[in-house]
Amino acid sequence: MSLYSAIKRAKDYAAERFPIEKLNFHSMVEKKEVPVHRLSWGYYLGGAALFFLLVQIVTGLMLLFYYQPTVSDAHASVEYISDYVVGGALVRNMHSWSSSMMIACVIAHLLTAFAMKAFEKPREITWLTGVGLLFLTFGFGFTGYLLPWNQIAVNATKIGLQSIEQVGQYLPGQMAQWPRAIRETIQGEAAVGQATLSRFYAIHVIVLPFALAALLGLHLFSVQLHGMSRGVEDPPRRQEKFFPMFLIKDLSVWGVAFFLLFLMALCLPFESFSPYPLFEAFDPNGSTPDGIKPEWYFYFVYYPLELLPFGVILVGSGLAMLMLLLTPWLFRSTSRKTLRILALVGAAYFLGMTLFGEDIYHIFKGGGQ
Ligand code: HEM
Repeated sequence: MSLYSAIKRAKDYAAERFPIEKLNFHSMVEKKEVPVHRLSWGYYLGGAALFFLLVQIVTGLMLLFYYQPTVSDAHASVEYISDYVVGGALVRNMHSWSSSMMIACVIAHLLTAFAMKAFEKPREITWLTGVGLLFLTFGFGFTGYLLPWNQIAVNATKIGLQSIEQVGQYLPGQMAQWPRAIRETIQGEAAVGQATLSRFYAIHVIVLPFALAALLGLHLFSVQLHGMSRGVEDPPRRQEKFFPMFLIKDLSVWGVAFFLLFLMALCLPFESFSPYPLFEAFDPNGSTPDGIKPEWYFYFVYYPLELLPFGVILVGSGLAMLMLLLTPWLFRSTSRKTLRILALVGAAYFLGMTLFGEDIYHIFKGGGQ
């Protein structure tokens, strides 16, 4: 292939993914239509994830006014927010509940986008930026968990960071050192301590938000440029206007989401579902609490990690990540029906591990509760 034809192919590829002729209000808003079919509810999930993200930004900024990122004061500052700041407990609860809801929406959004073949050409960039957003969302959960500097979180973070280092034993040659270097870079010092808290804090409030803003911008821009995907039928039998009908419905979903979130944050402290005292301050001389677990959205990898050899999980998750990244090419010719079945299997696995992971663990380990 000559250089000229390679450049032309690259130009055509980019022009198809980013059709700049559609860069106007008429194409991106007035002309946009949303297919109506039995999976249409899936089109509201990205918007719902966006809504919870906005709640995270607003409540997170409010928490920043009082939170102290030091090992001596972090826990006390969080307690102060809950006990003495007017509306502080509500804001903290909203931040925690909304983080869980955002993750639930992002996972459901991924599964419905997959089931509807929304990754199909020319939406590869939308899918890839979506995968990036998924990892960033998990990154927010992982780093935010440590910030209150409580007994459970510090110990769970130690275990999480150790798992990164364990990867090294399965890598060849010099690469075997990389996971330790990654762990040390994130951890910042020999043991989880002030340097770790400072780094998690910087990642949580600066690095991840900036990375997310960039990826989300590209994600939403390509969604608007290409319009909605076909859904379950190609071509769709019925469509509705994006503006104003779908937008009004989207905003109604935001209204209901806000009402539910507010009610939950008001009535149910986030830690009320935790089997142990979640907010005991970290005691460096204390023992690691029994039955320590990460947040619910990590159960799908945590329980298999407890049951199966680390190497199996490593290969399994490596393949799953690769599959996620290559989805637009791997499933290019797969029928929508097969994709719906695969999405159902994925959803059943995630729900099964989240709801019954502990029971499954006890069945296979043969121990009591
Ligand atoms: C912070 C996380 C995310 C936010 C805020 C977000 C937001 C959105 C929004 C508002 C839409 C348009 C409405 C809709 O189809 O629901 C959308 C579409 C889309 N998203 Fe996401 N998204 C996120 C993560 C993801 C993930 C994890 C994936 C998959 C890996 C993904 C893949 C897609 C695709 C393929 C579309 C196009 C849907 C279509 O054309 O029918 N997104 N996203």
